[in-house]
Amino acid sequence: MKRVPAHGGNVYEAARASGRPIGRLADFSASINPLGPSPAAVRALRHTLPQLVHYPDPDCLTLRRALAKRWRLATDQILVGNGSSELIHLLPRALGMRHALLVGPTFSEYARAVELAGGRVSYLHAKRSEDYRPPLERVLDTMQHSRKPVDAIFLCNPNSPTGRAVDAAAVRTLVQAAARRRIRVILDETFVEYCADRSVMRDAGRSANLLILRSFTKFYAMPALRLGYLVGPAPLIEQVRALQPPWSVNMPAQVFALAAIGDLAHTRRSLAFLQRERARFVMSLKALPGLRVYPSEANFLLLELPMSRSACVCAEALASRGLLIRDCSSVPGLNRWTVRLAVRRRMENRRLVAALGKWLGGPV
Ligand SMILES: Cc1ncc(COP(=O)(O)O)c(C=O)c1O
Repeated sequence: MKRVPAHGGNVYEAARASGRPIGRLADFSASINPLGPSPAAVRALRHTLPQLVHYPDPDCLTLRRALAKRWRLATDQILVGNGSSELIHLLPRALGMRHALLVGPTFSEYARAVELAGGRVSYLHAKRSEDYRPPLERVLDTMQHSRKPVDAIFLCNPNSPTGRAVDAAAVRTLVQAAARRRIRVILDETFVEYCADRSVMRDAGRSANLLILRSFTKFYAMPALRLGYLVGPAPLIEQVRALQPPWSVNMPAQVFALAAIGDLAHTRRSLAFLQRERARFVMSLKALPGLRVYPSEANFLLLELPMSRSACVCAEALASRGLLIRDCSSVPGLNRWTVRLAVRRRMENRRLVAALGKWLGGPV
């Protein structure tokens, strides 16, 4: 049986399957900053080689201090992890989650983490008829009236794979309502750099039930190095830290991340580029026949193919041309015509639109 991909970004498998070297693949299946990493961070990384003979700082203290200064938090309100995925998997065990509510359709690791820790999950899915707008009113309603109480809510803002975001004010309302019922809110802000006004990082550490996840791998373009962090009240952060294996965050990743957050020029360039290129990409995709392009606040787009075409066949057809896209048909709450595309550089986006247009116009 063919394995449905759990995540995008597996260039190794794609290279093996297609016989193309990784450098000749255009990966639209993982949503990484199309401008790549900060040049200053890459330079800093090069200087780390002589220190490979030492263990990394197990406390990530220099980086945590820099993040604490940036967000006006105390260092004990921050935990750095080996990608935000590590922290997602530590959270359910650390907090003893028994029943989590997932605002879907969303990132599959939340469910996997809760279930591996012995808990169970329920979903509240956004509706296709509402362009997958996150259903926060229904979440509030469920919290108030459900006879099966939950102890945690996972919300991704902006959400992956839909690209839809909710206002910071709506997130705050949710966090406050959850606090009254002693429900914790795990807010994943992995893609929030692209719509920073939606972030509630300013509330982090002040709300007793709010834990916010951030990732370096997407915006700072370092998925191979792995680094993410969690912010929240110090006692909860300590509970999660207590379960983390020692040295799980390598030294080059710590050095790279520190330099990357200091490179404000690269941050500004990245944001300006994405605004322009996403608008262009959306326009040319919307011009293709039968394609539905959902609104997005992130660096990726959710698309629905015409009903005569399945996401799986589309992904295979494009992969044979070296273009990797994310088939989203396995994501609970989405249908078998749904795919996700990262916004990449202009020439690659043009290539993708041309190949997709040709495939859509070809035999069914
Ligand atoms: C919404 C979301 N959160 C978290 C992650 C994990 O990112 P990382 O472990 O690379 O920080 C991903 C990765 O695809 C994601 O899409």
